[in-house]
Amino acid sequence: MSLPKKALIFGGKNGLLGRTLTTALDAAGVNSVPVAGADVDYFDADALDEFLDGHEPPLEDENYDPADLCLVNAVAYTQVDKAEDEPEEAYRLNAAFPALLGVLAEERGHRLVHFSTDFVFDGAKNAPYLPGDATNPLSVYGASKLAGEEALLGLELPGLLILRTSWLFGPGKMNFVQRMLELAAERPELSVVADQHGSPSYTPDLAALAVALLRNNATGLLHAANSGPATWHELAAAAIEMAKRPCRVNAIPTSGYPTRAKRPPYSVLDLGETARLAGFVPRPWREALAEYVAGYLAVAPARTGQPPQA
Ligand SMILES: NC(=O)c1ccc[n+]([C@@H]2O[C@H](COP(=O)([O-])OP(=O)(O)OC[C@H]3O[C@@H](n4cnc5c(N)ncnc54)[C@H](OP(=O)(O)O)[C@@H]3O)[C@@H](O)[C@H]2O)c1
Repeated sequence: MSLPKKALIFGGKNGLLGRTLTTALDAAGVNSVPVAGADVDYFDADALDEFLDGHEPPLEDENYDPADLCLVNAVAYTQVDKAEDEPEEAYRLNAAFPALLGVLAEERGHRLVHFSTDFVFDGAKNAPYLPGDATNPLSVYGASKLAGEEALLGLELPGLLILRTSWLFGPGKMNFVQRMLELAAERPELSVVADQHGSPSYTPDLAALAVALLRNNATGLLHAANSGPATWHELAAAAIEMAKRPCRVNAIPTSGYPTRAKRPPYSVLDLGETARLAGFVPRPWREALAEYVAGYLAVAPARTGQPPQA
């Protein structure tokens, strides 16, 4: 039962989650190497294999164990609406790339952590989703992420951990909460969808959860988010209130904000099995949001609407 000695975090240089994961793994004592698309061609199997060769512990090391190296995939095509018009690119990043990483991890004996999404569900259950519940994605993005999960689960990968997460917010990159705070600094009122229910996830908390699960040798398909359900309206209104922005937040139905891709009306994730394996229950999203908003205000010029520099 232990953390890997080394982790290659694909998407670790520029991704919202990848950056925070790199910091968290590093702080946990894992030799953490962030990787970007510029470092290696993600779709060239030989180039990737060679890249991994360069990062394996020396073969002459008598304590050498390939499971000491963990591949972490935080790369994805995450533009949900654009994916409807670019399905090939979405499938390339969300299904073909994880499948390739999976085959290499299988051949070489490395551990692999991959992230998926609540958008694999259609929302019809209307109660927190368990990892084993039936999937039925409503969008190209959701379908391509499901294809990625299925490709990995079809391999012989004893060290595979897939974490389905949702509604990410956190430092270092634009996200829904930051966008709402910026708009609230410029406008007297906002209208936000109030009939989609999900599980907000603060990237530092998600990274801490991933570290705990890795440390405890958790494998398989799990859900990972902060505790408690929210609507987009509740999340935006809470952030704006915490930031003391004088902005009214109106609740509107999904039909009042048409989007290219269809989203599930309900995709709250059940965290029971995850909490059991991690050894703790992730904190409620409002607590995590308060921490995020305080950090955002500490670096954002007050009420100008300018994004923080961090
Ligand atoms: N954001 C959410 O609300 C949300 C919700 C549910 C699930 N998830 C899942 O959580 C994971 C992390 O999401 P995130 O929001 O942190 O993603 P993100 O900020 O959009 O970052 C994804 C990374 O993918 C890489 N990438 C994208 N297109 C690429 C391309 N054409 N070629 C090469 N690399 C490319 C980029 O890395 P480089 O810059 O290094 O190339 C980018 O930094 C993903 O698996 C996502 O599906 C996210």
